[in-house]
Amino acid sequence: MKERFIQKFQELYGKGGGIRAYFAPGRVNLIGEHTDYNGGHVFPCALTLGTYGIVRDREDRKLRFYSMNFESLGIIETSLDDLVPDEAANWTNYPKGVMWAFEKRGYKLAHGMDILIYGNIPSGSGLSSSASLEVLTGLMLKDTFGFENLTMVEVALIGQDAENNFNGCNCGIMDQFASAMGKKDHAIFLDTNTLNYEYAPVILKDAKIVITNSKVKHSLVDSAYNDRRNECETALKELQAELPIHSLGELTQEEFELHKEAIKDPVRQRRAKHAVYENQRTIRAVEALRENDVELFGRLMNESHQSLKEDYQVSCREIDILVDMAQAMPGVLGSRITGGGFGGCTVSIVRNDAVDGFISQIGKTYQEKVGHEAEFYVVDIGDGAKII
Ligand code: GLA
Repeated sequence: MKERFIQKFQELYGKGGGIRAYFAPGRVNLIGEHTDYNGGHVFPCALTLGTYGIVRDREDRKLRFYSMNFESLGIIETSLDDLVPDEAANWTNYPKGVMWAFEKRGYKLAHGMDILIYGNIPSGSGLSSSASLEVLTGLMLKDTFGFENLTMVEVALIGQDAENNFNGCNCGIMDQFASAMGKKDHAIFLDTNTLNYEYAPVILKDAKIVITNSKVKHSLVDSAYNDRRNECETALKELQAELPIHSLGELTQEEFELHKEAIKDPVRQRRAKHAVYENQRTIRAVEALRENDVELFGRLMNESHQSLKEDYQVSCREIDILVDMAQAMPGVLGSRITGGGFGGCTVSIVRNDAVDGFISQIGKTYQEKVGHEAEFYVVDIGDGAKII
């Protein structure tokens, strides 16, 4: 793989050495959805799918980018002196945003680079291809310019800053954190309020994690995401009139029920309810996994989906078709939408002996009902970003 990338790199940018290679994974979130910007907990793991980057230093300040996923765009050229968002710059706004965020923090980028990118995360699938590109860029810059004191947690935060303030999606920290900090065969139990985290081994006895890609992406993704976030922020302000809290993640379900009438709008009340209940559910789910109670973990995933569908309203018809089929199938312990929503993927826990049937039956019925194929990935949990 690496040889193929280096060959392509040299075809594009010329022969010569000094070429370095990096990888940053995508992620799947097992439970804890839309909690990361509400001061709650999340439980994602890194995939073995992700984004590869090949880079060589330049002596001037030019930046040249090429993606093997968007070959028709050719080489996109810019400069370190021109780090501003630009629609025509297409996907390169992600790495440019990270460079901008480095410079903003005083990490000076002394020279330009030639960069080749290849990713094998299906784009628009909700498995964090953009976060993986951001973390990849962060690691590439950290290594290239010798920013040794910069931790990978900071690389994740820089990626989030780039996404929020350069690319305009007000995402939380989960995706970049999972990509930067993932650990093989473990999920990350992250408290987004404090950024304290623990690795929890994902031991599912005789079951596997299966991702199903609905292959739909609704165009409202970013704007609807930002709307949900605003609704939660307003609900928090209303609750703060009665309670000394800094985030919805600080509330128990009982406290929420006692004070929910402070939230004047019924829709906003449901959004906040999801944030509070989903956070508590995530804490219980991680406990269940630690106690080897995979069945309870699965049931909590089902509850999570219900809440995301009814109260948070980030599901869609195609995803509900997938989840309903999965939840009704023997051998499936739990199934839910994963990621930001409005399309993308589901994540399910499926007993080993039911995986083949899951893929063939759901695949067939989905095609009949929706009119296009779904894709399935049996998950291997991988490590976070690394030099290769
Ligand atoms: C997207 C965002 C994350 C998180 C999820 C929902 O993936 O990037 O920060 O909010 O949606 O849990």
